Amino acid sequence: MIGQNVRGNQKRKFGHGPDIISIPLTKKALRQRDRHLSIFREMNDLLSSSLEIKEVLHRVLDRVLDEFQLDAGRIYLMDENNEHLTLAVHSRIDAAGLETIDIYEGFSGKAARTRSFLAQYVADLEDQNRAALLQSKGINIVVCVPMITKNGVVGVINLATSGQLQLDHKEIDIFHVLGSQIGTAIENLRLNRELGEKIQQLRERKETIKFFAYSIAHDLKSPAIGIHGFSRHLKDKYATQLDERGKEYCEQIQRLAEHIVNMLEDINAYITAKEVQPRFEVVKLKEVIGSIKSEFEDRLKSGAIKLPPHNIETEVVADKRALIRALRNLVDNAIKYGGPSMNEIKIAYSESREFHILSVTDNGVGIPREDAEGLFNVFQRTRTSQGMPGSGLGLAVVKEVAEKHGGRAWVESEPDKGTAIYMAIKGSCLWK
Ligand SMILES: Nc1ncnc2c1ncn2[C@@H]1O[C@H](COP(=O)(O)OP(=O)(O)OP(=O)(O)O)[C@@H](O)[C@H]1O
Ligand SMILES: [Mg+2]
Repeated sequence: MIGQNVRGNQKRKFGHGPDIISIPLTKKALRQRDRHLSIFREMNDLLSSSLEIKEVLHRVLDRVLDEFQLDAGRIYLMDENNEHLTLAVHSRIDAAGLETIDIYEGFSGKAARTRSFLAQYVADLEDQNRAALLQSKGINIVVCVPMITKNGVVGVINLATSGQLQLDHKEIDIFHVLGSQIGTAIENLRLNRELGEKIQQLRERKETIKFFAYSIAHDLKSPAIGIHGFSRHLKDKYATQLDERGKEYCEQIQRLAEHIVNMLEDINAYITAKEVQPRFEVVKLKEVIGSIKSEFEDRLKSGAIKLPPHNIETEVVADKRALIRALRNLVDNAIKYGGPSMNEIKIAYSESREFHILSVTDNGVGIPREDAEGLFNVFQRTRTSQGMPGSGLGLAVVKEVAEKHGGRAWVESEPDKGTAIYMAIKGSCLWK
């Protein structure tokens, strides 16, 4: 049994069974095989280097010329329409007149068209002008290696000698393998370059969008505040000259301007939550919740809503302003959307092994299950918001704040029972 060892005392003895691979090699053949293997290894290193594509091809070409003791070489790349080969690099030859080749032209065109390796005397070329051109450059024999990948012919390696050449089958095999090795590498380099360009474009687009968002949020605010102020002046100072309809129009302008300002502030808050790096500090949750309570005091009183006292003594490491912003949005939502029967909001704290969890719970109308999905997406508003002003950004801010603190936000709600929104932040430090 294979693998029966120590205990069975039948260790497998490598080298003593029949050989799986048996190729008797002479010293010369061994040397040749090592040489060939080393060219593949070197090609691999070159082709996977971070150099520019042209530089890589240049080095590859020189290495091949040295290996096969050839005099000159060119590498052509196929165009998108598979009609022309364009000279990418050349070595040890004046390439004037050889910059582009139609695939129905010359040895390289033939190798690309027929997808086959060829080695021929220049004198055998049918095109006498071309033969004369090549001979004027001292070329006697041309070897063409198509670079073939699974997607087709990427180009052709054109090698030349002024003397004679004798190739055996093994060498021709090596040319074949080199052709596809180099072709595949070129394709990968191109893909990488395209990917890099796409990433750069996306980055630039993101920057443009960010710039617009910032300018809109920032630059539109003061004109909107101006419109609001002027319509108020108009209504106050020219009250005697305005009829009822005129006054109503003024009020409407005021309301709309106010809406624009609120929306711009919401957009600004969202951009800040998303783009600005949090400023972490030790934050007393007691202080955060205290400031929220006093901020909402009047609204809670006028709605006869209780926000019971809390005794949260925990300190967390967080961005205090971001935490306040998130909790403010949650309490604001509870007051706005809880409905007429909602009379209690609770801010609670709990902790898991990894997270500090803050929640704001109300006993209002709740959120229908089908509306809860996507609740934290930007500009998402649901049925419970009917008739209430808002931009649909408050919960997106809560989500951003939670994520910037290494946590997440989620909702638990039941129609007619109430809504609880949770925000977990990573508890890298926990003080009591
Ligand atoms: N406590 C809640 N009870 C019922 N519905 C809620 C509650 N909180 C949020 N919602 C629903 O979720 C929607 C999204 O809330 P979100 O805070 O993101 O936006 P908004 O309040 O409409 O606008 P903004 O906060 O930007 O002014 C709201 O429009 C509302 O329909
Ligand atoms: Mg809101």
